[in-house]
Amino acid sequence: MPIVRNKKIEVLYSAEQLAARNRELAEQIALSDLKNILVISILKGSFVFAADLIRALHEAGLSPDVEFITVSSYGAGTTSGTLQLVRDVDTDVNGRDILLIDDILESGNTLKFTKELMESRGANKVAVVTLLDKSMRRKTKIDADYVGFECPDKFVVGYGMDAGYAFRELPFVGVVTGDA
Ligand code: IMP
Ligand code: MG
Repeated sequence: MPIVRNKKIEVLYSAEQLAARNRELAEQIALSDLKNILVISILKGSFVFAADLIRALHEAGLSPDVEFITVSSYGAGTTSGTLQLVRDVDTDVNGRDILLIDDILESGNTLKFTKELMESRGANKVAVVTLLDKSMRRKTKIDADYVGFECPDKFVVGYGMDAGYAFRELPFVGVVTGDA
C-alpha cells in the first residue's frame, strides 16, 4: 500500500486503469454528435483528469478548444448548494458544443450550476463528463453523459483531488486509511 505524508493510502483506481478508461471515454465522446468541442475543466479538482482526457481526445481524432472555470461552494463543508463563480471562462459560449469536465459528481450542485450557466449563455449543447460518480449522494437532478467509474461512498484523493490541498499529485485515485 502506498505511503504518502505518513498516511497509508489504499488504491481504488490505478494509473493504468485511469489511462485505459480515459481512452474509452475519449472514443465514446468522439462518436457523439458534439461538434467543434469546447472543453471546460472545472477547477481545481478536475485539472489532472482534464489534462489526460484532452490528450486522449486528441488520440481519438478530436481537436477541442480548452477552457477553465473555477466554481466553489460557499464556505467549506456546507451543504447549502450555494455556488460561487470564482473565475469565469474567457470564451463566448453562445452556439458552442461544450464538454464540461469535473472530477466527482456528488450532490450535483457544481455541475448543475455550471451546466445551467452555459445554457443561459446560449450554448448549443452541454455534455458532462465526470471521472467519478457518487450517485448515492445526489441531491439534485443531474446525470453525467460520460462517467469514468462509480465511486464508493468514501472520501477519495489523488489524480487532482485533494484533502486540504494535499495528495493532488498522486497518479492514482485512493482513500486514506490511516497512519503509516
Ligand atoms: P457536488 O457534486 O457539487 O456535491 O460536488 C462535487 C465536488 O466536491 C467535486 O467537484 C469535488 O471537488 C468535491 N468532492 C466531492 N467528493 C470528494 C472526495 O471524495 N474527494 C475530494 N473532493 C471531493
Ligand atoms: Mg470539484
